[in-house]
Amino acid sequence: MIVLGVESSCDETGLALYDTQRGLLAHALHSQIAMHREYGGVVPELASRDHVRRTLPLLNEVMQKATIQKQDIDAIAYTQGPGLAGALLVGASFACGLGMALNKPVLGVHHLEGHLLSPLLASQPPEFPFIALLVSGGHTQLMRVDGIGAYQLLGETLDDAAGEAFDKSAKLLGLPYPGGPEISRLAEFGNPGDFTFPRPMLHSKDLNFSFSGLKTAVLTVIKNQTANICEQNKADIARGFVDALVDVLVAKCLTAMKESGLKRLVIAGGVGANRQLRAALNAVAAKRRFQVYYPELEFCTDNGAMIAFAGAMRLKKNPAAATRDYGFNV
Ligand code: KG4
Ligand code: ZN
Repeated sequence: MIVLGVESSCDETGLALYDTQRGLLAHALHSQIAMHREYGGVVPELASRDHVRRTLPLLNEVMQKATIQKQDIDAIAYTQGPGLAGALLVGASFACGLGMALNKPVLGVHHLEGHLLSPLLASQPPEFPFIALLVSGGHTQLMRVDGIGAYQLLGETLDDAAGEAFDKSAKLLGLPYPGGPEISRLAEFGNPGDFTFPRPMLHSKDLNFSFSGLKTAVLTVIKNQTANICEQNKADIARGFVDALVDVLVAKCLTAMKESGLKRLVIAGGVGANRQLRAALNAVAAKRRFQVYYPELEFCTDNGAMIAFAGAMRLKKNPAAATRDYGFNV
C-alpha cells in the first residue's frame, strides 16, 4: 500500500510517499522560514498563500523521485490539526481534491501522532512499548506508547511549550526566527553557571512542565543588565537558559522511565533536534541503562514523511480509516 502524506500545519509544506512494503519512497519539503524571518515569527496569511504555491510542485517532485504514477497511490493522508487554520485548509483541500480526482480514499492525521511516530522511520526503529517525549513549537508532552493508536498522556506543559520557550527567549536575545537552533548554537559559546535560571516544576511530583517563567527570567536578566549586552553575555545567558530547560526535560523523562519501568525512550518534535538535549539524554540513558531513539534530524521538524507514515500505520491497522467522503474538518 502506498500512502501520500501532505503536511501544511504551519510554515513547512511537506509531501511524501510511504510504501508499507518498501518504506519511504520519496519526500520533499519547502520551508518558509526565510519568508517569515523578517517578521520575527510565522505570519499565518503568508503561510497559507505559500502552501498554495508549493503543494503541487512538491507533489510532482515526490512522484518523480519515487518513479510511480498517481494511480499507484492507494490513499492520501493529510494533517488535520492542530495548526494554523488557513494553512491546514490548504493541505486538506489539496488532499481531498486529489483524492476525488483519482478516486482514492483520504484520511486526516493528527499532527502530533505524525511527530510521535516519526522515530519509527529511522533505520533502527524502537519497538513498542516506549515512553515518548514530544517537544515541538506548540506542544510538550510525555506519553506512554503501547502501539499505533494506543497512547496515554502522562504529563504536559501547563503553559508554554519547550519550542515556544526557545523561540521567545531567542527573540529577547535579538536572535532571528526560529530561535531554537539559534539559541542552541549560541549556547555552545556560553560559560556554564554564569547565569542560573529556574528549573520550573523540577520537583513537582507529576510529569507536567511549565516554561513561561523561564522566558520571564531571561527577560528579567536582560533588563537588569546595566550596560549593553555584549556577545559573550548573550552566549552566557543562552547557555544558562538551555541548561535549565534541558535539566527539566531530562529529569521528567527519567521519572517517566522509572515509574513505567520501560527501557525505551523516544524523542520527537522540533526540539528533539537540539544537540544539548540529545547529549544530556544520551549520557543519562547510558548510566541508567535504557535506550534513547530520535527521528532522523530532517524528520524532527515538520515534514510530510511522518504524515504519510502515520497514515499508512493507521490504514494497516484499520483499512476503513480512510474515506471517499471528501468533506473534511480541520
Ligand atoms: O515540530 P516543529 O517543527 O513544529 C511544531 O509542530 O511546533 O517544531 C518547531 C520548534 C520551534 O520552536 C523551533 O525553534 C524548535 O522546534 N527547534 C529547536 C531546534 N530545532 C528546532 N529547538 C531547539 N534546538 C534545535 N536545534
Ligand atoms: Zn510539528
